Amino acid sequence: MRKTKLHIIFIFGIIMAFACDSSKFSKEMITELKVDSLLQEMTIEEKIGQMNQLMNFVDSMPLDPYFYDLIKQGKVGSAINVFSPEMIQEMQRIAFEESRLGIPLLIGRDVIHGYRTIFPVNIGLAATFNPELVMETAQIAAMEARSEGVNWTFAPMMDISRDPRWGRMVESSGEDPYLTEQIAIASVRGFQGNDLSNKNSIAATAKHYVGYGAAIGGRDYNTTLIPETELRNIYLKPFKAAVQENVASIMSGFNELNGVPTSGNVYTIRNILKSEWGFKGFVVSDWASIKNLQVHGYAKDSLDAAQKAIQAGVDMDMCSNYYSENLKQLIEQGIIEEELIDDAVRRILTVKVELGLFENPYATSENELLTEKALDVAKKAVIQSTVLLQNKNDVLPLSKNNKKVAVIGPLANAPYEQMGTWVFDGNEENSVTPLAAIQEYLGADRVNYAPGLEISRSLDKKGFNKAINAARNSDVVLLFMGDESILTGEAHSRAMLTLPGSQNELIHAISQLGKPTVLVIMTGVIHMVEPYLKEVDALFYGWHPGTMGGPGYVDLLFGLESPSAKLPMTFPRTEGQIPIYYNHNRTGHPPSDESWVKMYDIPVKAWQTSLGNTSHYLDFGFEPLFEFGFGLSYTEFNYSDIKLSKNVISNKDSLIITAKIKNIGGVQAEDVAQLYIRDLVGSIVRPVKELKRFKRVRLNPGEEKIVEFTLYPEDLKFHNGEQWVIESGEFHVWVGNSSKASLRSEFELK
Ligand code: NOJ
Repeated sequence: MRKTKLHIIFIFGIIMAFACDSSKFSKEMITELKVDSLLQEMTIEEKIGQMNQLMNFVDSMPLDPYFYDLIKQGKVGSAINVFSPEMIQEMQRIAFEESRLGIPLLIGRDVIHGYRTIFPVNIGLAATFNPELVMETAQIAAMEARSEGVNWTFAPMMDISRDPRWGRMVESSGEDPYLTEQIAIASVRGFQGNDLSNKNSIAATAKHYVGYGAAIGGRDYNTTLIPETELRNIYLKPFKAAVQENVASIMSGFNELNGVPTSGNVYTIRNILKSEWGFKGFVVSDWASIKNLQVHGYAKDSLDAAQKAIQAGVDMDMCSNYYSENLKQLIEQGIIEEELIDDAVRRILTVKVELGLFENPYATSENELLTEKALDVAKKAVIQSTVLLQNKNDVLPLSKNNKKVAVIGPLANAPYEQMGTWVFDGNEENSVTPLAAIQEYLGADRVNYAPGLEISRSLDKKGFNKAINAARNSDVVLLFMGDESILTGEAHSRAMLTLPGSQNELIHAISQLGKPTVLVIMTGVIHMVEPYLKEVDALFYGWHPGTMGGPGYVDLLFGLESPSAKLPMTFPRTEGQIPIYYNHNRTGHPPSDESWVKMYDIPVKAWQTSLGNTSHYLDFGFEPLFEFGFGLSYTEFNYSDIKLSKNVISNKDSLIITAKIKNIGGVQAEDVAQLYIRDLVGSIVRPVKELKRFKRVRLNPGEEKIVEFTLYPEDLKFHNGEQWVIESGEFHVWVGNSSKASLRSEFELK
């Protein structure tokens, strides 16, 4: 009865809006009208209900009566981890048809790198340096998810990650704020589309706000200490871009930042996000991170934790139940104002209205899963994310004429593991493994398969003989090594970044045969690969590639496509170099080959000086193994003729930078042209280099093209700890295909 009444109010509001003068009533105004009329009808319990996210691990029908009642009473605003479409449908039906106000649920899920079609893990997607492609992957994930009733994803993750020990770097776009920002924008666009109410759109979540990736020592959930300059110039950057892109929600983090947990942080949420940036969506806590305020010792009890979180600006409580247990009491005791609750509920309802849930809260019902288009995009993503790190004597691409090919390794035929971390909805039956794809391409009779190790962690060597024989009886050896997916991701940080189990020994044993050997590493972790460079001819970093791993690898291995991926994170030579990232600040003692004093060159009882006097390690120098932005191709590209539209600009001018790229090798290929700058003198110390633009360019053999980039004064801006500034002075600008680009020019800002 009341529900009917309310729906009439909605319709009335809309008709009124259009009848008066439709041009005066924007979509936003109509949404506001709907939300306001709903808010007026809501009891305090119903309001708090909207701020409560329920988890449901019991996924078999019928729904547990306890949950049924909660939803029916309007005490649930969202549900997480509801896995079966039937259960989603049932919960949504209860909320929409049986609760007093008929407010539909946000069905939240970790749709991280695909829903049913699984794309490469996120760090791999970043290695594509192809935001357009990343957008397509998110569009497909959104379409698939919504077709089963999921309307909200906890993605994209945009934590800057400079420490490969941190298990969650696999979910990130790596170490660079510009690349991360571009991938974040593309993902939000892909998930949300132009209009959230489109049947193929879902609400996105920018996470984890903020600084989570800076966990000390790379230990997940650990303390983060980030000075204001770094916070603004590095860690907040992608979040700000996501807010400008109208991301529907933001997830606060698990970490404490400079002493204050991010799920109770007034400065980052209330002040920066909501006030300074004007974020209109809602903030959801991470899993029980409101409860964790107590564990941090930042709140004395659940009441205190709820108070701190709501005052900081967290609008929805993921799975602590602290809001549902405490908010009413906080209002009744006059500790918080009801307006705080109204603001949070308004934000949540706005997203629900924008998603069109009041018109249709249910699954889109068409069968949108694993379409041909989705599989094509997934394969393309594998091709563009797999980084070629070494290709001695041009052993790659392989000729199809090799009579016998050995396929070895625990990841060669591991359909579940190749999907990677955070996969709830992918089915291993849909994964095409490297083994299956190579057998399909060459014919099964030409493939000698022996895994060598049962799983990536196997310590025994009982499969070695078979693997060695398979290699011995083949013309070329393909090793698919790496990690099971569970060894990467949340709470799975690692102190030693070598391949687990007996994989090192297996690689070594095979390398003794002297056969042409290609190693493909399938993982979400950055391993210390320097030792393998001596043992194998070619090395591909394949990440966990998802559903179409096998077919994507085949195209690369046999040269149907040339590799074009670039590293989104610096590859250290040894764990002791971590953190090592390309865009570090300039030091007063910059290292060089000349200044590196090598450990064994130091004379015995040398005079007690600082010797080389520069910033390096006696034993490992100062260079990483592979720099950010690096990745080989089957051809070579020559960069020349860097030109600037002006050499002196004002802070209102844009600057056009062009350079010539020529394909000087024998095959058609794509390269990622990258533009870096250095601000030579600043009021605070500036980074040695910063990525500002990148572009994919496809070139035929012998072909050359001019690549053009435009920089704006905005790109030269930085936060000096107090404010954003653009400072006059000289800048260097480089164009090339890694962060070691040497083709340079200069300009001055006056
Ligand atoms: C905890 C993770 O930190 C977060 O990324 C994820 O979205 C939530 N759990 C929900 O599963």
